[in-house]
Amino acid sequence: MSGLPPVFPAIDPDDVSSNGSANRTFGEVVEKRMSRRVALKGGPAAAAGFLVAAPAGTGPAAAAGQSGQSATAAARGGGGGRPPRALLGFRAVPTSTADTFTVPEGYETQVIIPWGTPIRPGGPRWRKDAGNSADEQAQQVGMNHDGMHFFPLGSGRQGSRRGMLVLNHEYVDQELLFPDGSATMTPEKVRKALAAHGVSVVEIEERDGEWRVVDSRRARRITGSTPVSFSGPVKASHPSLQAADEPRGTLNNCSNGWTPWGTYLACEENWNNYFGTQDPSWQPTASQLRYGVSKSGGGFRWHLADPRFDLAANPNEINRFGWIVEIDPMNPNAKPVKRTALGRVKHEGCTVTESRGRVVAYTGDDQDGDYIYKFVGQGHWRAQRALGRSPLDHGTLYVARFEDDGTGSWLPLAHGTGPLTTANGWADQADVLLRTREAADAVGATKMDRPEWIAVNPENQDVYCTLTNGSGWNSAVSPRKPNPYGHIVRWTEKNGDNTATTFDWDIFVLAGDPAYDAQAGTDESNVFGSPDGLGFDGDGRLWIMTDVSNSSQNLASKGYDNIGNNQMLAADPRTGEIRRFLTGPRGCEITGLAFTPDQRTLFVNVQHPGEATTAWGTPTPENPRAVSNWPDFDPEGRPRSATVVIRRTDGGVIGA
Ligand code: FEO
Ligand code: CA
Ligand code: CA
Repeated sequence: MSGLPPVFPAIDPDDVSSNGSANRTFGEVVEKRMSRRVALKGGPAAAAGFLVAAPAGTGPAAAAGQSGQSATAAARGGGGGRPPRALLGFRAVPTSTADTFTVPEGYETQVIIPWGTPIRPGGPRWRKDAGNSADEQAQQVGMNHDGMHFFPLGSGRQGSRRGMLVLNHEYVDQELLFPDGSATMTPEKVRKALAAHGVSVVEIEERDGEWRVVDSRRARRITGSTPVSFSGPVKASHPSLQAADEPRGTLNNCSNGWTPWGTYLACEENWNNYFGTQDPSWQPTASQLRYGVSKSGGGFRWHLADPRFDLAANPNEINRFGWIVEIDPMNPNAKPVKRTALGRVKHEGCTVTESRGRVVAYTGDDQDGDYIYKFVGQGHWRAQRALGRSPLDHGTLYVARFEDDGTGSWLPLAHGTGPLTTANGWADQADVLLRTREAADAVGATKMDRPEWIAVNPENQDVYCTLTNGSGWNSAVSPRKPNPYGHIVRWTEKNGDNTATTFDWDIFVLAGDPAYDAQAGTDESNVFGSPDGLGFDGDGRLWIMTDVSNSSQNLASKGYDNIGNNQMLAADPRTGEIRRFLTGPRGCEITGLAFTPDQRTLFVNVQHPGEATTAWGTPTPENPRAVSNWPDFDPEGRPRSATVVIRRTDGGVIGA
């Protein structure tokens, strides 16, 4: 999410920390580590050595007379002096400020499932004046596409030509969603906005060289109104979850995940934005303050028309949000399940891997000064499933602590362990999970710089996390102060075992523009800022997607004038080389990626093209095309989030 609610603020609310704990910031940890290196090895170049994985022959390390690789990248490279095989085989595209989607020479694109596409052919057709009703929207692809996964149908070649595409719809731009904009709020508008949120499950196939939606009994929409169930230590019957009706809906589904048993994970991020109240007597609890809950919410103003979102009238409804939601893409009758053992935070995503038969799920809490978490399942996940238990319901939730000697540890958030005792006011494990942020504060986790997506390298199980930026005014959670460009942190779990409770870490790349920041590990083939989306392909290429806030995009005053529109890059984690792969249209972020098993088709999402930006302007009901008219370029239409299919014209592996 660009973080911009419908009422366009001067600063991204995610950049404002709500963490008042005395825990150390990652910036402080990095600073101390750098000063230790200066003392041990002599000179600032040695200090910078662990920070930057620069392209070979470029970047500050090369300028300082070193190899262009970070020490760690070199150590993890081909081994035995053998140069690693080149992973990146395309020519970098330049930055762009145009209202277009650009891919490298030799690649082609096709736009599919823009907002408003019927999820089954024959469903209600898209109306370019945004005149579709709430009921129609509930049968159409939602708005603001985000995390996404492709579940193949069939094996071999067939499995790369037909499958279920499952994707999140993070939030809505109410100026574009309604024909009359967002000046007024009505119950029908709230219903439509809820219907444009959630998850789309569509069946797609490639036929005659084109991908298309096919009719499918598996297709469905999960929206902000869909009945859901709860599982794990926080039950639907928990007193804190009792509200006016049965639990419904999922909101602000940002990044995603998928499990080895074939389910999809949607993650509830900035759920606090949807709740508010006009009741002057309402006061936030300490826990609500920690989650950024406020009377005015994030500007959606649904509480003015629907008491479900009124903090005073329906105080427990908000406790039903902030969870990881498991969805079966193959069974349209299976209720989405909120897996409470994974904690309640502003979950950016949920990246699942396996180690020694156990399931491990990583999740970042995207707000300035918040934390990185990991859930380790109890026992072998296959055995758990054989017993009829979900591997995501039983296990231990940990939070990360980074040390300035380059090590780190995972601190358990388990009731009765450390400070999380009844004597200290923690009633039980459900209480720990409902107040996950406070529990993590209490155990001494490290404050990070807006943790976004997390990806696990299939080649060696190393873990990478985008820390998108830290431009907030009341914290300095960064190796740079302030840190408008972000960085990618990487860690190796002890013995390569993702269930381990200790790790070693370094920084894979400091994003940014060398014209403004000498520390940035970039050059013109890859200058970027605010990394957000992240994922590995089967060959070990690391794909990086950016979400530069619309209040910074293309502005010299923010140091972003050379970086252009949001983009996607590919990195070779063994050499540190990074190349720009695509650029998006105006006002969008690039997010969500999915490959077919043969890696010859890549699906990427363009989210919120045409949203209000400081550089380009603000869409209005009279002119929804003020910023962008991508992808339709219809003179009477409006910009729409969509999925872009990317293939090589020679049919080869993407990125190679
Ligand atoms: Fe929804 Fe943190 O991006
Ligand atoms: Ca973001
Ligand atoms: Ca994001």
